[in-house]
Amino acid sequence: MTTVPSPTRRVEQDVSQRSHPVSRLPGPSWYTALENTTRFLRQALEFSEGMRRQYGDVVSVPTLVGRLTLVFHPDGVRRVLQENHFNYNKDIPDYQVLSRLLGKGLLTNDGDSWLQQRRLMQPAFHRDRVNAFGAVMTDTTMDWMQRWEMRRLVDTDEPLDMLKEMSALTLSIVCKALFGAALPDEQLERVRRALTTANHRLSDAFYIPGILSLPTPQRHQLAAARRELHAVVDELVRQRRADGGERNDLLAMLLEARDAETGEGMSDAQVRDEVLTLLLAGHETTANALSWTFYLLARHPEIATRLHQEYRRVLAGRPPAMQDTARLSYGRMVIEESMRLYPPAWAVGRRALADDEIGGYVIPKGAYVLLFQSVTHRHPDFWEQPDVFDPERFSSEHAAGRHRFAYFPFGGGPRLCIGNQFALTEAQLILATILSRYELRLTPDASVVPEPLVTLRPRGTLLMTARSFAELL
Ligand code: HEM
Repeated sequence: MTTVPSPTRRVEQDVSQRSHPVSRLPGPSWYTALENTTRFLRQALEFSEGMRRQYGDVVSVPTLVGRLTLVFHPDGVRRVLQENHFNYNKDIPDYQVLSRLLGKGLLTNDGDSWLQQRRLMQPAFHRDRVNAFGAVMTDTTMDWMQRWEMRRLVDTDEPLDMLKEMSALTLSIVCKALFGAALPDEQLERVRRALTTANHRLSDAFYIPGILSLPTPQRHQLAAARRELHAVVDELVRQRRADGGERNDLLAMLLEARDAETGEGMSDAQVRDEVLTLLLAGHETTANALSWTFYLLARHPEIATRLHQEYRRVLAGRPPAMQDTARLSYGRMVIEESMRLYPPAWAVGRRALADDEIGGYVIPKGAYVLLFQSVTHRHPDFWEQPDVFDPERFSSEHAAGRHRFAYFPFGGGPRLCIGNQFALTEAQLILATILSRYELRLTPDASVVPEPLVTLRPRGTLLMTARSFAELL
């Protein structure tokens, strides 16, 4: 579990007193700004990796919207997220855009208000609390598989779009964890549609800066999606406040949370922002991690076979339960390796509040710093044969001694993802439930291309056919 530090350490300033950092960062010259902007917008993954290869671990890139400071070395990642985190906040366009939907929820909040909220919410994500959701995760997945069978999408050539299925499944699970019961289909569908619209419009805004500041259709649609989501969540909170009763879900914990010193709880608006944040942050990322895992396993049948052997040995045909997760260690390694190659959160940004030093260079006050999971997770100084899918990298033997920040799918430091245990448990249980019963194959014409939007997902669809093992025998 993450412990939340108190703000005792202050920003480390005046780095020149400690060493003699070089102020001119390597990188392309200013006249490439237009080209950099278009390449970054069109091919962010290739562009950022190309910058590392050409210029090294800290690179300054001029673009039409200002200079970007790209940091690839794990030491630099640790510096920004952990060692000197007080020097970096979230006052950057990506989070300004997200806050249009999520307001002051935990992901977009900053400073003292963030710290107070994090302290209030941390207990809700304690390991014991997450464990209590294990049955919901497995049962909901079983329901989903039953629906596939009823729709005759198993043991036929009719493909399932696993990206869409995983997104709907993880949304349903996070809704149950939040509200204690499944939302009625109609309400779940309203939430799903509004979140999908919001996701698309937010992605547009990452790639066309300013698009949400003008009276564009995109801004209009985002506002409509937000109104829809507010209406659903406000109604659920109102019902809950009215019916009182003892509950054990995340919403109950948010409503009951009290500040240790003042005894104050959250306002309704704050609860709503937190609920929306958990809905958005709590499903899309896990759905992408699962989709990439299904894809990689389909491409590596020898690894899928080994995984299936683990499921047979540990589960012997029954559905997985929470207490099995400790013994499903190969399953966990497969998911970790999948998030190395295809990190759902592929980049994390921050604003420098004062000068800092990273890798012997001055990072100036005001710098827009970007850390890339997508690049650092394949950094050749830290990973042998970085492009190869090899879950063994995450065995305790091989992981020992690795730089802590060579792998940071959930971020790090005090702003480490609050849902990381929830996500890992959920991914392990969903994977085991589905893959102990079915073999998933890519359709013959499948072309799977990573698309770095708000999260890293396969472009379009991920079409796969499901065969039950009973049928295959
Ligand atoms: C595979 C799944 C997931 C991945 C890869 C992921 C990744 C991340 C990352 C990288 C951050 C840090 C962002 C930053 O530092 O700027 C983050 C923060 C956060 N995540 Fe996750 N996440 C996942 C699942 C979840 C789930 C399941 C939940 C909730 C149920 C969740 C809720 C949050 C929240 C509330 C924050 C903000 C925490 C804070 O700043 O205090 N995430 N996540």
